[in-house]
Amino acid sequence: MANRDDFHGRWALVTGASAGIGAALARELAARGARLILTARRRERLDSLAAELGAKGTETRVVVADLNDPMAPQQIFDATEGAGLAVDLLINNAGLGQYGAFPASAIEQELNQVRVNCEAVVRLSRLFVPRMVERRRGWVLVVASTASFQPIPYITTYAATKVFDRFFALGLAAEVAQYGIKVTALCPGPTESEFFDVAGANAFKERGVQPAEEVARLGIDALARGQRTIIPTFRGRVTAFLVRFFPVTLITRFAEKVARPRSGSTAK
Ligand SMILES: NC(=O)c1ccc[n+]([C@@H]2O[C@H](COP(=O)([O-])OP(=O)(O)OC[C@H]3O[C@@H](n4cnc5c(N)ncnc54)[C@H](OP(=O)(O)O)[C@@H]3O)[C@@H](O)[C@H]2O)c1
Repeated sequence: MANRDDFHGRWALVTGASAGIGAALARELAARGARLILTARRRERLDSLAAELGAKGTETRVVVADLNDPMAPQQIFDATEGAGLAVDLLINNAGLGQYGAFPASAIEQELNQVRVNCEAVVRLSRLFVPRMVERRRGWVLVVASTASFQPIPYITTYAATKVFDRFFALGLAAEVAQYGIKVTALCPGPTESEFFDVAGANAFKERGVQPAEEVARLGIDALARGQRTIIPTFRGRVTAFLVRFFPVTLITRFAEKVARPRSGSTAK
């Protein structure tokens, strides 16, 4: 079983490190002694986080990449592992959602979710995990969501990408455990970040949000323990447990009522 010190001095690659949960995960790993590779599209955000961590003695690298581009994972790999950095922690965090009625949605926004939330996770894992297998050590975190425990109308594509993420993490965990590699699916509920602004889904924040720092701390604790799934809220754990006892059609009908955009209000 890993302990917290196992991350000391190791290179951790965090996708979506320019905001929200990703930035919090990077800070958490830096506090545990890891060296950080920060990637996302917004360079100035990454540079500013790198400067903040650097001032506390953390070695950092910044790699700007757009994970909508299927070539980006290879470019990230070439700039890091390919350039001699042994990436022992892969934190697949970058992601986005889109709230609204599917038939009226912008197809590119739907597909962006599939590409960033799913395709990039598979590509990055396929590039970095074989090196972990060779080294007989490694940690992979996949940020899924409590949205992965049932279909959710009006964030239909998003919820489907997150069940993909969770099952991908669970399957991979079972495959690579024999090489000493730990894989964790982190399943946050509503968390303080820019997610709801990007998704046009601020209504989902009405019941409160968890601080990103808390989600990151619990996620990294679980990864260090080798725990395969972590749901960082009590509410999320209860929901994930209860949905097992009801037919999925019933759960989805209920979710449709809860998630349906209210008349007189915009999706935001
Ligand atoms: N917040 C929540 O309530 C919540 C709940 C459950 C799960 N999650 C999951 O948590 C993860 C992080 O989201 P967050 O809440 O922290 O949202 P956020 O504050 O909007 O951050 C999203 C991150 O993903 C990056 N990203 C988005 N599109 C990208 C692209 N095409 N290429 C590269 N990077 C991209 C963004 O960076 P740039 O814009 O700079 O590229 C940003 O750093 C996501 O996987 C999300 O699904 C969030």
